[in-house]
Amino acid sequence: MAVPIPEPRISRFEKLGFGMFIHWGLYSQLGRGEWIMNLGKIPKQEYVKLKDTFTAKDFDARAITSLAKRAGMKYIALTTRHHDGFSLYDTCGLCDYDAPHSPAGRDLVREFVDACRQDGILPVFYHTTLDWYQESFQEDFEGYLEYLRRSVEVLCTQYGEIGGLWFDGNWSKPDADWKEDELYGMIRRLQPQAMIINNTGLDNLGRLGHPQLDSVTFEQHHPKKLDQEGFPKYIAAEMCQTINAHWGIGSRDFAYKSVGELIETLCIARSAGANYLLNVGPGPQGAIPALESAMLEKVGEWISLCGSSIYEGKPSNAVCDGADFVLDTPQNSYWYVHSLGIRGDANVTVDPKDSDAKRTIRGISRPISSICWEDSGEPLWFEQDQKTGEVRILPTGFPYGTNTVVRVARIAYQD
Ligand code: GLC
Repeated sequence: MAVPIPEPRISRFEKLGFGMFIHWGLYSQLGRGEWIMNLGKIPKQEYVKLKDTFTAKDFDARAITSLAKRAGMKYIALTTRHHDGFSLYDTCGLCDYDAPHSPAGRDLVREFVDACRQDGILPVFYHTTLDWYQESFQEDFEGYLEYLRRSVEVLCTQYGEIGGLWFDGNWSKPDADWKEDELYGMIRRLQPQAMIINNTGLDNLGRLGHPQLDSVTFEQHHPKKLDQEGFPKYIAAEMCQTINAHWGIGSRDFAYKSVGELIETLCIARSAGANYLLNVGPGPQGAIPALESAMLEKVGEWISLCGSSIYEGKPSNAVCDGADFVLDTPQNSYWYVHSLGIRGDANVTVDPKDSDAKRTIRGISRPISSICWEDSGEPLWFEQDQKTGEVRILPTGFPYGTNTVVRVARIAYQD
């Protein structure tokens, strides 16, 4: 059985590779994550007061899209409405619990979409399906679903062509009939190029909840490479992760990942053919914390130095040592090398190694002409046994002054 051919929106999405997730809403003013209304048992009549102090004065959509660009991110998924029910967009009269009716007085999704267009970033709309604000969610589920569809219709008709809708919350009523056919059918009609994603949550990683969906999700986990043989349609995979331990800002969350870990995680996602959606949590009025911006910029530097093959590169069948892996583009292959030694002096370098041991890639019989580090152009010694497809390579260690965590070499072929 064959692997199905991806539809154009799905292959476009796969090539985006790396995206920014933004969790921002009324909850950001409390600095204790996006679930604080529920977990902190804040009564609705108290919580809604956050709307009166929501000015969005620090929300500079263009600053965000240009940061994403510098970080090498090609799309942004913004929480247009999260579980607390507050919308960053103008609901066009469906519900006045939205940004235009707050002191912000602006349609923040419009600003976001406009900035995305200016910077060549694909806008994706995160939208909750569960709702802690609308009473109909508990009391009149049919009525609620109609409200949800009308809300999504606004998003599909008021902002031009969008990259996708990213739903989240069906896991809150696993036995309910969410009428997904109706919702997705409407999106296909109004936005045929939009990806439709519905997060299956922490317990159901990589499961496709509905045949119309275009991607599976791996929330906070590493993706597995999907074996799509015999699938009725080709589907993408996406892994979303926090940059510390929260989605919406946790101002006392010090558990930041390292830049090295973000780079490794990006590589892990791409080695399985999945996109990496990395979250930032803007502060109360919309500014991305300086530390988070700085981290993203560093990842972007790594991509421009040696990781530009993460976009077009597809997981290869070649088998490597340890965590190493190969991505294939139509012309070349790219070898992602982990745990590389550092050339240096014992007085200044921890665990210096003058030369590294040879490593092996199995499964490349196409004749190789050269293997060179992407960051320096330095050619690497290699020998290839075309009959067995075995390649032996000597990856030279990092020169003093350099440590890219994962180092990438371009494998060029003779024809
Ligand atoms: C979970 C959470 C939600 C968060 C999402 C991101 O489903 O409920 O708060 O937005 O994960 O993947």
